[in-house]
Parts: sequence; C-alpha cells; structure tokens
Amino acid sequence: MRVVAVVNQKGGVGKTTTAVNVGHALALESGPTLLVDLDPQGHLQHCLGRHDRNQSGMDRVLLDGDPIADKVREVRVDLGLVPAGPDLADFEAAQGGAERGYKLRHALASVADTYEFVVLDCGPASGMLAANAIAAASDVLVPVAGDYLSLTGLARLLLTLRRMQSMHLGEFDEWVFFNRFTPRRRLSREVYETVAEHFSDRLLGTSITEAAVLAECAGAGKSIFEYRKSSRAAREFRALSDDLLNKWMMGNEQEKASNVA
Ligand SMILES: Nc1ncnc2c1ncn2[C@@H]1O[C@H](COP(=O)(O)OP(=O)(O)O)[C@@H](O)[C@H]1O
Ligand SMILES: [Mg+2]
Repeated sequence: MRVVAVVNQKGGVGKTTTAVNVGHALALESGPTLLVDLDPQGHLQHCLGRHDRNQSGMDRVLLDGDPIADKVREVRVDLGLVPAGPDLADFEAAQGGAERGYKLRHALASVADTYEFVVLDCGPASGMLAANAIAAASDVLVPVAGDYLSLTGLARLLLTLRRMQSMHLGEFDEWVFFNRFTPRRRLSREVYETVAEHFSDRLLGTSITEAAVLAECAGAGKSIFEYRKSSRAAREFRALSDDLLNKWMMGNEQEKASNVA
C-alpha cells in the first residue's frame, strides 16, 4: 500500500485539489484508493459532493482509536473517503506521549489489505496532524506555486522533511510538482528552472496549468474526470498520477535488482 501525503504549509497551493484528482485518477486507473481528510477545515468531502459536516471521521479515529474502516464512505467506484469530522482540530491539542505521532500509521495498517493507495489531504498547520501524516507516508507530494515566495517555503519544507527522515520520524520519498502553473509568465518559467536545477531528482515531470475548470469542478462536487474528462487539466492530473506510478514501479525494480545482487 502506498500512502501519499499531500503536504505544504502554504494554503491555496492546491493540496485538496490534488488529493481529489490524483486520488480519483489512481482509483480509475489502478486500484482501490482511500482519501483521508486531515485538514480540520474538512473541505475534501465537499469536492466530491458530500456535505455532511457532523459526520465523524478522522477525529474519532485519532482521538478515540475508532477503527478507520468504520468511518469510510464509498464515494465512487474503488474510491473511499474518510472525512475530517467536526472535532479533528482537538487532536492538535490532545495530550499524550510520543506514540501520539504514530496513531495514523497504526490506523492505516488495519486497511492495508483493502486499499492499494491512500491519499492524505493535509491542512496548512505543521503540528501533530502533519507529523502523523509524515510518519504514515511512503510518499510526500508537495504542490508548489510558481512565485519566489513559494521557493523559500519549499526550501524550508524540504529541509524539515530531510530532518525528519534523519531522525527516523518517517521513511518516505518526497516529490515536488508545480500547480497553478502559467507557462506564459516569465516568472513562472524562471521559478520552474530554479526548482528543476536544485531538486531535479525530486521534481515530477508534469505541471498542472492554472485552469478555471479545476475551481469549477470542486464547486460542483466532482473530480475533473467527471466534470470535464477531455480537458487539459484532466490530462495533466492523469499524467501526474502516472508520474507517481512510474516512480513506484522503478523503485520496485531497483529493490528487486538489489535483492538479486
Ligand atoms: N491548477 C489550478 N487552476 C485553477 N485553480 C486552482 C488550481 N488548483 C487549485 N485551484 C483552486 O485554488 C483554490 C485553492 O486550492 P486548494 O486545493 O483548496 O488548496 P489548498 O488545499 O492547498 O488550500 C481552490 O479554489 C481551487 O479550486
Ligand atoms: Mg486544502
């Protein structure tokens, strides 16, 4: 089971948009996928047409240890969703020892036979919820916007991730991609070149272009594959998911080769 945490402390960079559309692409193309809302704002369910604010979800899983399988709602074929739940913000303040950081990891272990992929939609905070996401992740997926302020944020985020890896707080690969990309703007291209130069092995080949349909489909409660299947945005999100699938396939082959060697 691959667990993809969509992470960036910056709001509005497209974490939720990415979680929904990469999640649905994986479900359509590859296998059973679980979307998990770790943002107390709870926007994820709205993007798929569910609007039950009072329904419990990750709040009870993390605060009370309720089984995650009991909180899954089947939102599409091969696509389950666990909502944030009304009390998820309380988890940031909850008391407890170091094991508090591994609650999500343990919860997900119980559904490892059910899902091929899990996609975690993280909020902008970098507290206990983010720590849980990173401890549970096999992959940290970072959407960045094409301006210089995002660059300083990105450098800091990657440094934090490296530090967590070296302290063994998580064991994951990190991947960066551009969202809301505007290829005609020189600034966008310059920022892209800078990131490609510094993080070439971590930058995915696909960028998601700024596109009004992506905001529209969220409002309509649909993924881009339902709302405008033949749009450029749909093509790009499918390509982004393929980028990840290819990285995973390459990783598996390298592992096999090193086992033989
Ligand atoms: N590539 C894009 N083109 C146009 N609008 C986008 C794009 N990506 C995201 N948006 C819009 O930007 C806003 C913020 O995106 P969202 O996914 O909610 O970000 P985050 O979860 O990081 O806060 C939303 O209204 C969303 O529809
Ligand atoms: Mg969000």
